[in-house]
Amino acid sequence: MSHVAYVNGRYLPQKQASVHIEDRGYQFADAVYEVTCIWNGLPVDHAAHMRRLRRSLSELRIAMPCSEAALTAITREVVRRNRVTRGTVYLQVGRGVAVRNHSFPAKPVKPSLVIVAKHGAGPTESVAQAGVKVLAQPDIRWGRVDIKSIGLLPNALAKQAAVEAKAFEALFVTPSGTVTEASASNAWIVTKDKALVTHPLSTEILGGVTRDTVLRLAKAAGYEIQERPFSLAEALAAKEMFLTGTTTFVMPVVRVNERPIANGSPGSVSLDLRQRYIAYVNALDERAWAVDAPR
Ligand code: PDD
Repeated sequence: MSHVAYVNGRYLPQKQASVHIEDRGYQFADAVYEVTCIWNGLPVDHAAHMRRLRRSLSELRIAMPCSEAALTAITREVVRRNRVTRGTVYLQVGRGVAVRNHSFPAKPVKPSLVIVAKHGAGPTESVAQAGVKVLAQPDIRWGRVDIKSIGLLPNALAKQAAVEAKAFEALFVTPSGTVTEASASNAWIVTKDKALVTHPLSTEILGGVTRDTVLRLAKAAGYEIQERPFSLAEALAAKEMFLTGTTTFVMPVVRVNERPIANGSPGSVSLDLRQRYIAYVNALDERAWAVDAPR
C-alpha cells in the first residue's frame, strides 16, 4: 500500500510529496516536530502533543499553521488514509520558505506543515521483557533541547554510535557526569528504596509526553518520585533503570555500556510501570482526539 502524506494543504502519495529547497527547515533546522503514537487507531496523549507543539512554536516565534482543531482533523485523515491502527504520526511545522538569510524573513511567510504516518509502534514486547542495553554518549547538544526542534544531528550521531555498539539507545551524559536523557527518550532510575528518579524539566531535556504520563501513573500507584538530576555513577549503582518515550513506552534498561544494572534483568518497578502504561493506552477511546482532554 502506498503511503499518503499531507504537505502544505495537499494529501499526496508519499513518493510525490516534496518540499521547497529554500524551506528554512531544510536549511536551518528552523522547524519543530511531534511524534504521536497511534494505538488501536487512537492517538496517545494527543492533547499533550498539541500543547508541546504550541510551546515549541511559540519559543521560536513561529505561528501555528492552523488551529489545533484543523491540525487534529488533518492528523486523523492521514491516519485514516494510511489505515494505521498501530504506528506513529509525524508532524512537522517550519517557519516556511524564504531566500536564504539567517534572520527571520522580514515579511512573515506561511509556516510549512507536513504530516506523515508510519505503521508499527516500536519494539516488540519480547524486547521489553528482556530489557535493553544503552550506550553512554557525551551530551553535545545545544542549550534549548526543551524545544522539540528538528535539529537532531547530535541525537542521530549518538544513536548511530549506540546501534554500532549493539545498544538500543544512547544515554546523554554531560561533562559533569549528569545523565540528562536519551537520544529519543527520557531516562529514569529506581533507587534501592524504590524511589523513581528522573531529570527535572529544564532547558537540558525534552519534556517528554510519556515522561509526564508515567509520572502521573506512578504517583497514582503510590511510588515516591524525585525529579532531580542523577549521575552516570548513580545510574550504574541503581536498582533499576528504564526509558520512556512515544516509541518505547516504558523500556527496562539492563546494561549501560558493558556494565549490568543490578543483576542484569528488567526490574519489577520498570515492568510494573510498563504494564500500567499499556493498560492506560489500551483504555483510550474516541475522546483521545480531543485537544482539550484533561490530564
Ligand atoms: N522523540 N527526549 C528526546 C530527545 C526525544 O526526542 C523524545 C521523543 C523524548 C520522549 O518524548 P515523548 O515521550 O514525548 O515521545 C525524550 C521522538 C519519539 C522522536 O524523535 O522520534
